[in-house]
Amino acid sequence: MKIAVIGTGYVGLVSGTCFAEWGNEVICVDKNVEKIMQLSKGRIPIYEPGLETLVARNQKAGRLSFTTNLSEAVRNVDVVLIAVGTPPRAGHGDADLSFVHMAAKEIAHALSGPAVVVVKSTVPVGTCDAVQKIIDAVRPAGDVSVASNPEFLREGSAIDDFLFPDRVVIGVEDERTEAVMAALYEPFSDGSTPVVMTKRRSAELIKYASNAFLATKIMFINELADLCERVGTDVSELALGVGLDHRIGRAFLNAGPGYGGSCFPKDTLALLRTAQDFGVTLRIVEETVSSNEARKRKMALKVVDAIGGDVDGLTIAVLGLTFKPDTDDMRDAPSVSLIETLQRFGATVRAHDPVGMSNASRILENVAFFEDPYECVRDADAIVVVTEWESIRQLDLVRLKSLVRSSNLIDLRNAFARGAARAAGFSVSSIGRPSEPELRTGKSLSEADPRFASPVRSLVDAR
Ligand code: UDX
Repeated sequence: MKIAVIGTGYVGLVSGTCFAEWGNEVICVDKNVEKIMQLSKGRIPIYEPGLETLVARNQKAGRLSFTTNLSEAVRNVDVVLIAVGTPPRAGHGDADLSFVHMAAKEIAHALSGPAVVVVKSTVPVGTCDAVQKIIDAVRPAGDVSVASNPEFLREGSAIDDFLFPDRVVIGVEDERTEAVMAALYEPFSDGSTPVVMTKRRSAELIKYASNAFLATKIMFINELADLCERVGTDVSELALGVGLDHRIGRAFLNAGPGYGGSCFPKDTLALLRTAQDFGVTLRIVEETVSSNEARKRKMALKVVDAIGGDVDGLTIAVLGLTFKPDTDDMRDAPSVSLIETLQRFGATVRAHDPVGMSNASRILENVAFFEDPYECVRDADAIVVVTEWESIRQLDLVRLKSLVRSSNLIDLRNAFARGAARAAGFSVSSIGRPSEPELRTGKSLSEADPRFASPVRSLVDAR
């Protein structure tokens, strides 16, 4: 098949490359000239394990190319994927669809014959209907149909998630479009992967419901982690015992500092906005959003408490900055609010991340960044682990301990085995495990302290 992909962000670039890997002829389009220039030379603008190799292989095979010229790219294709951004509109929380609408109009004008336009961007219910209307207004012949095909890939494992997904979800309104979409996903025609063929609105909602459910699952275990700390149990054992029930599942039951990234925070808010528009209240999703906001504030409180109730004048080394490992993405990363709060309390922050420091330096001010994690912790008064990178998990605890000034290790991802950290001489404060007696200072700060106030107000908080 001949495929054009509009937008070379995570979803566009990964899907385009993987469709090429399946033998299709793919051309990726982006308005950003510099990005397209770099991609044409095989340079990947995002950090995603394995992507560079896959792009190079398909470029070399002549199946994958890049351009800024949308009109030329879509002229003779069978399928056009829209994978442009849908950022939250400032102060609203709903998805800004202007890029999707703009792309639809341009595509409609440029197509030379029948085609299927596939919306891959995460879009609210009814968006594909609106895109169909935009296209029909330009092309009354009705030779271009719109399909919804949300993408469920995770940053850091995007290629595997695309090539070996749990399921593919496709929303169509007619049989001709269904046949084209089935041909697009021909590699799964052997039944190896379930393909859910449904209506456009269902497909659109499935994507939001999936992300909201996963976000809720994380916040469920995070709240239980707080209880575990009080009753003296370990949340990882709890997660295992609960998660082995196949109706529940062990995945996404890792307690931590709250979820971040480009999807969960944005998509939960957009879902709430859609529900509001239709006069429905999604109480569980509302609670998930506000519980996540509260958790990010609580993490700063946890760090300050663990260090003795006051961090003014102290130096804190933060290990791991990105919203999760194996990505350079800093969007809504829990490290940001944590570091900014610690700075408001008078702490000096030093930080290390294996690949996220360049992006982090654009967001965080007055933070000293270190390529070498050991240099990062030198003479610090505490180490805080925020992202569980494998390279951080593998650090030599004895060496770390020899470099820090005190024994405080606050492990917000339970990245280190507590026994090993204790054996190295650390006093460990972790998530969902009872705190160690020596860490109970008697001094405890109140969450009501204005310095804990999050600068980010959620849609739920704003009500
Ligand atoms: C998510 C969805 O998983 C994916 O299907 C969708 O297409 C895009 O959004 P992504 O944002 O890349 O993917 O990351 P994910 O691995 O889902 O993690 C999101 C956040 O949840 C991270 O901050 C992560 O640290 C956190 N998380 C995840 C937990 O705190 N605990 C868990 O058990 C799992």
